Amino acid sequence: MIEIGNLKINGVVLGPMAGVTDMVFRVLCRENGADLVYTEMVSAKAITYNNKNTKELLTTDENEKPVALQLFGNEPQVMAEAAAMIEGYDFDMLDINMGCPVPKIVNNGEGAALMKNPALIEDIVSAVSHATKKPVSVKIRKGFEEGEENAVECALAAEAGGAKVIAVHGRTREDYYFGQADWDCIRKVKEAVKVPVIGNGDIYTPQDAERMLNETGVDGIMVARGAQGNPWIFNRINAYLKDGTLLPEPTINERIQMALRHARMEIDFKGEYIGIREMRRHVAWYMAGFPGASKVRDKVNLAENYEALEKLLNIYLQ
Ligand SMILES: Cc1cc2nc3c(=O)[nH]c(=O)nc-3n(C[C@H](O)[C@H](O)[C@H](O)COP(=O)(O)O)c2cc1C
Repeated sequence: MIEIGNLKINGVVLGPMAGVTDMVFRVLCRENGADLVYTEMVSAKAITYNNKNTKELLTTDENEKPVALQLFGNEPQVMAEAAAMIEGYDFDMLDINMGCPVPKIVNNGEGAALMKNPALIEDIVSAVSHATKKPVSVKIRKGFEEGEENAVECALAAEAGGAKVIAVHGRTREDYYFGQADWDCIRKVKEAVKVPVIGNGDIYTPQDAERMLNETGVDGIMVARGAQGNPWIFNRINAYLKDGTLLPEPTINERIQMALRHARMEIDFKGEYIGIREMRRHVAWYMAGFPGASKVRDKVNLAENYEALEKLLNIYLQ
């Protein structure tokens, strides 16, 4: 059990993924055992400009709670202003992105670039913590680049600023998502701070989850890519951690039914034109390993409506 301010959760969470963890996917992961879900990252500056594209990113559903809303930015005052503006929205924790590696963000001094400046981390977390009553958290990496592995220093700065929980992805910005995550840096952060720590990086199976807990001593674990096309992973991890039960992997029929329900929910939320296009990548993940998947995937990528998608997937029903 992790206590984050007033929020009490078991520790198996869905990590934030831009373009993936929208409201619909978060609801599906919660239904399948995730204890906490994170939104896609949202620009603090865009919130303060009342940018209408951020509206959808800020939308949450009661069935996904508890949910952490993730902001990115690098100016303490702007971040605090954004936090105050969304205080009335229905989310449970405010997370600050300190890990995004993409050049567009990093070159602005945002995302993982914050790790080059622990004093700024403390200022941002402190400004945001004063602007909201919700618990504030951060998600950091191992460091910015090799030779600058300062996760412990950044975690201590975030804690000093008032962060209530710290998630650590065991890769540097330079690593992006490649290679193997370094869990030892997660252990070092856990040993250094008093607030709860969530370990992240390369958890794809219930056994990985148990190993992360044992090797690092973290309070919770975060699954990101391992949940793509695979919301069942949370129940499977929970069962295994509880008493060693290894639940079976979902069957082909279960995958198809989940993909189609996901599509219907996505279309309800975003309309058919956008919904069906956003589903293309999810469907590819649900279909991973299906016989002849690559040919069917090509056709799915041309599907323009729900009926076409259903027809393509139903050939696999057994
Ligand atoms: C497509 C994609 C989008 C991501 N978007 C975000 C994001 O918006 N905010 C964030 O903090 N991390 C983001 N991440 C990083 C993940 O939350 C996570 O830290 C990383 O994928 C490592 O965990 P994993 O090995 O379980 O995937 C993203 C990762 C992927 C693959």
